[in-house]
Amino acid sequence: MTNVAFITGATSGFGRAAARRFAREGWALVLAGRRLERLEELARELEGTVPVHVAALDVRDAAAVRAVVDALPPAFRAVTTLVNNAGLALAPEPAPRVALEDWHTMIDTNVTGLVNVTHAVLPLLIETGAGASIVNIGSVAGEWPYPGSHVYGATKAFVKQFSLNLRCDLLKTGVRVTDIAPGAAETEFALVRTRGDRAASDAVYRGTTPLTAEDVADQIVYVATLPPHVAVNRLEIMAQRQAWSPFAVDRDA
Ligand SMILES: NC(=O)c1ccc[n+]([C@@H]2O[C@H](COP(=O)([O-])OP(=O)(O)OC[C@H]3O[C@@H](n4cnc5c(N)ncnc54)[C@H](OP(=O)(O)O)[C@@H]3O)[C@@H](O)[C@H]2O)c1
Repeated sequence: MTNVAFITGATSGFGRAAARRFAREGWALVLAGRRLERLEELARELEGTVPVHVAALDVRDAAAVRAVVDALPPAFRAVTTLVNNAGLALAPEPAPRVALEDWHTMIDTNVTGLVNVTHAVLPLLIETGAGASIVNIGSVAGEWPYPGSHVYGATKAFVKQFSLNLRCDLLKTGVRVTDIAPGAAETEFALVRTRGDRAASDAVYRGTTPLTAEDVADQIVYVATLPPHVAVNRLEIMAQRQAWSPFAVDRDA
């Protein structure tokens, strides 16, 4: 039977790279994201190799998520791996200067969207049983605090704990759950975070060697293709040229 990967946020970055990587392994693909034209472009690229189903979807809309899952064609219903990748960071400025709307958008996408998709796809994964996986894309920001991370880091801490908690509840189902927590990776992530400021987003990666989308896609496919009895609970991956800083201390002038 063909393996099926259901990938959210397949229009860019990690999600698009994961789609290409799963296609190399011969997996059928369900590609979801808001920008339909990008999904269709990716489908045209890959459907000569593997079966592809595209779904224009805003993960924040629970009813739309449910409708997309209910409407999956039979060949795509036996989902082997759900990659909960759709997400974003906004507002890198300090918390007192952030618009409440930006905090809401991050929570609605990274937390509510992720649970919407998980809840809808879970019955299909349980039906698949041994060898099935949920791969949630967290972040080092879910583990390590830094200035300007405020709600973004908190949403990724949710992703981490939700992943671990799900493992407990899915113990008897055969479904594995992994929180992959990348550090800085060069995608459209910084462009979204800086609200389209190309100079500011380029500066995030200038003069260093960040992870690529393909580096992260390799890890996604790695955990999804391990033998069914092997579960990676959390996988933190950083560029070699990224590490932690000392604690900040406020001192008298
Ligand atoms: N790049 C990094 O440094 C980094 C590090 C750690 C973790 N992450 C996490 O990795 C994940 C992927 O990010 P990326 O780096 O690949 O960034 P990206 O290139 O900006 O891709 C983000 C993807 O999420 C989708 N998305 C955003 N909001 C959505 C919504 N409401 N509904 C459906 N899809 C939505 C976007 O698709 P549409 O806009 O077409 O909907 C896009 O495909 C995110 O969860 C991010 O938090 C990134």
